[in-house]
Amino acid sequence: MSSGFDRKIPRGGTASVKHDGRAAYFGTADVLPLWVADMDFAAPEAVTRALAERAAHPVYGYSFYPDSLYDALTGWLKNRHGWTVQRDWIVMAPGVVPSLFATVMACTRQGEGVIVQPPVYHPFFSAVTTNGRRLVENPLRLENGRYTMDFDHLEQCAAGGARLLLLCSPHNPVGRVWRSAELEEILRIARRYDLAILSDEVHADLVYPEARHTALATLAGAHDRLITAVAPSKTFNIPGLGLSSLIVPDPAQRDALRKIFDSLHVANTNPFSIAAFEAAYRGGEAWLDSLLVYLRENRDFVGDYLRTHLPGIRLIQPEGTYLLWLDCRGLGMNDAELREFFVRQAGVGMNPGISFGQGGSGFMRLNIASPRNVISAALQRIANALHPPGPARATR
Ligand SMILES: Cc1ncc(COP(=O)(O)O)c(C=O)c1O
Repeated sequence: MSSGFDRKIPRGGTASVKHDGRAAYFGTADVLPLWVADMDFAAPEAVTRALAERAAHPVYGYSFYPDSLYDALTGWLKNRHGWTVQRDWIVMAPGVVPSLFATVMACTRQGEGVIVQPPVYHPFFSAVTTNGRRLVENPLRLENGRYTMDFDHLEQCAAGGARLLLLCSPHNPVGRVWRSAELEEILRIARRYDLAILSDEVHADLVYPEARHTALATLAGAHDRLITAVAPSKTFNIPGLGLSSLIVPDPAQRDALRKIFDSLHVANTNPFSIAAFEAAYRGGEAWLDSLLVYLRENRDFVGDYLRTHLPGIRLIQPEGTYLLWLDCRGLGMNDAELREFFVRQAGVGMNPGISFGQGGSGFMRLNIASPRNVISAALQRIANALHPPGPARATR
């Protein structure tokens, strides 16, 4: 089947951070943009149709969240993740990152400890530090090419008085999809030390066939202080529309979060976000299934290419997400040299691993949610830069 995902859609001139923001981030626009976590693919037709229909109505007034939107979300969580969510547990939020910040404010006080598990998506750090909380790091362990959690150390962090764990599940950038046994261990520690948990499950729908995402909440009990962030943004490539949901079974946590959103007057949204959110969850499933096939092929394509042509770069085999974590330590460069090499010599714009904190040094994050010929061109650029064909350096 020829895939619509092969189509190259020009994104320049759309105020795209990934494309139009290259010069600002990399110091040059002459890099293939494989960084920011959005996809270069068209959103599902169900979404573009719903947006076009809404745009055709020429009044764009204040909007609330209709019942049908909650139904679409609870239906998706039930059907896709076997998770029954009650409507009154849902707190709508502008995005997952604002939700991380709000959760830190709602669940902890100034100076209290919040645990993060680096290397991890960078706003996890700033959600803690910009709010005057204490960053408590429980680094992931890398053994034989696979990341695991250090539960003994996590327990020490909790015992040391940390009040909240920010869990990334599936994990960006290392691509782990946490197994039930690992999640159970987290819950055990949280119960023992009365630790609240924010489980960021924004990548939950983007999981490869060999793994299965377990919503932490499906293992939790009524007394666990668990907040889960979910969104259609990564799944259906609509992150620019900025809408997500927090699932908060505990009424006290829910009230605290609502107060924070109300205090900023961000409890409402816009008509386009609502239309896209609902249409994606109702009509996007077949598109998602095709996307997952395409992403898996891209992932395997990168893995094969690296093994064959670039043995100095090792793929940490991801179980989920379209973000590949590349172990570049075999290239023998420090972080500044790596950045310089990929940007200036290869012309490939990836996120430096070091920006994900401890344990990220020597790594790069590659976004594979682009047409395969773009990914292939990026790999060839890297190979040419490392091993220039002939006496002269290859030009791009
Ligand atoms: C783990 C994680 N959480 C949150 C986000 C962003 O969420 P939002 O755009 O809804 O703020 C990302 C984007 O890369 C992410 O990887």
